[in-house]
Amino acid sequence: MDDFITLTYNGKELQLPVITGSEGEKAIDISRLRAETGFITLDPGYGNTGSCLSSITFMDGEKGILRYRGIPVEQLAEHASFKETAYLLINGRLPNRDELTQFSVMLNDNSLVHTDLKAFYQNFPRGSHPMGILSSMVNAMKSFYPDLGNQEEEMTLTMTRLLAKVRTMAAMSYKISRGHEIVLPRPDLTYCENFLNMMFDTPVKPYEIKREAVNALRTFWILHADHEQNCSTSAVRVVGSARVNLYAAISSGISALWGPLHGGANQAVIEMLSKIESGSESCAQVIARAKDKNDPFRLMGFGHRVYKTYDPRAQIMKRMCDELLESMNIKDPLLDIARELEELATKDSYFIDHNLYPNVDFYSGIVLRAIGIPTNMFTVMFAIGRLPGWIAQWKESTDDPNWKISRPRQIYTGNLEYDYIPIHAR
Ligand code: SDX
Repeated sequence: MDDFITLTYNGKELQLPVITGSEGEKAIDISRLRAETGFITLDPGYGNTGSCLSSITFMDGEKGILRYRGIPVEQLAEHASFKETAYLLINGRLPNRDELTQFSVMLNDNSLVHTDLKAFYQNFPRGSHPMGILSSMVNAMKSFYPDLGNQEEEMTLTMTRLLAKVRTMAAMSYKISRGHEIVLPRPDLTYCENFLNMMFDTPVKPYEIKREAVNALRTFWILHADHEQNCSTSAVRVVGSARVNLYAAISSGISALWGPLHGGANQAVIEMLSKIESGSESCAQVIARAKDKNDPFRLMGFGHRVYKTYDPRAQIMKRMCDELLESMNIKDPLLDIARELEELATKDSYFIDHNLYPNVDFYSGIVLRAIGIPTNMFTVMFAIGRLPGWIAQWKESTDDPNWKISRPRQIYTGNLEYDYIPIHAR
């Protein structure tokens, strides 16, 4: 059955095809609209606009569903390693044992950072934000690893190299910011263990790798691994569409994620909770400010463009807070404050009417604090988790035979034509 919609305007009719996704989602294909009618569509923030067909991640915002290549994120968080999840997103299926072993070996073989790249860190002012450093370092990788071929194996190496080095670069920025010796990655440690060891091992006090911290990090990174066409992924696709190299496209994704409305919210949530803990504001005052149209303040970690119910990742993160803090015998007053805020908000008609619930960032900072991650590195942790998703989305666009450069249109609202006025006449 031909599926199409009919547009009528000024007595004319235009039939536009309807696209149906594998989960029954429907879209109107408007690629002929301007040519046939001279019209474009207008959708600030693209809330109603699909940018691509994708088989990577499925989200249902009304039902709170999130699946990577068809597998529910809850099952991956329960059973998979972060490496398996990265492989699944990038290659479209889970690896068999040999493939996983080969992937692990490639990650280990490529986890060192070129010694000349280390010099870059020395020239950032102390106190530079780690997201700005990471975005710059990833972009700089093109200069150190110029042989970006198009062959399959070369592309696999490039993607794996980026996954391997991003952890090392993030840990290096932390160590250097503290004036500590850099800790090198170890082939005998897993992806998550290696990161924690590179962050916290010191010659005077060897880092004790705790199961619960490794498991919390594994779960955190799996929950952040992809999220279809969010702001930073769209940045990777748009920048990538100009046919820049992978490092430059990923660097643009890191920059977009830095924003407090996006990945930067996890740091903003902890800053908000800490302010309440300091006594300078109460939960009730924070809720009131979030509802006040005259106040630009938003309840950080609440609300989502797609989820109009509880973000499934936030559910898992909230449960993980309890388990992790108990197993590590940690009492974090910010968790009680977060719970009080959630209690107040989810009973408040403003938040109910606006479909505002906790999103992935609301509880994630509590988990990161418990494993010792400094607050200014929270968004870097999000970026490391999201990297496989960015790579998978970029690869999907490069594999598209109809891959076009992204170039949206606009509706002009400026001056009508008028002549130049010489300076003496102005
Ligand atoms: C991430 O897209 C993704 O998938 C992102 C992400 C991923 O994994 O990649 O899930 C990660 O970015 C999660 C979101 C983290 N950001 C925050 O927690 C910041 C706080 N949240 C908001 O700024 C907001 O909810 C957004 C940015 C997340 C979504 O914004 P939208 O969809 O553009 O919604 P909007 O700004 O148009 O708001 C709609 C209404 C407005 O009220 P009205 O003018 O219609 O009366 O809801 C209100 C807003 O004022 N609103 C909030 C609010 N979020 C929306 N009011 C108070 N507090 C909030 N947090």
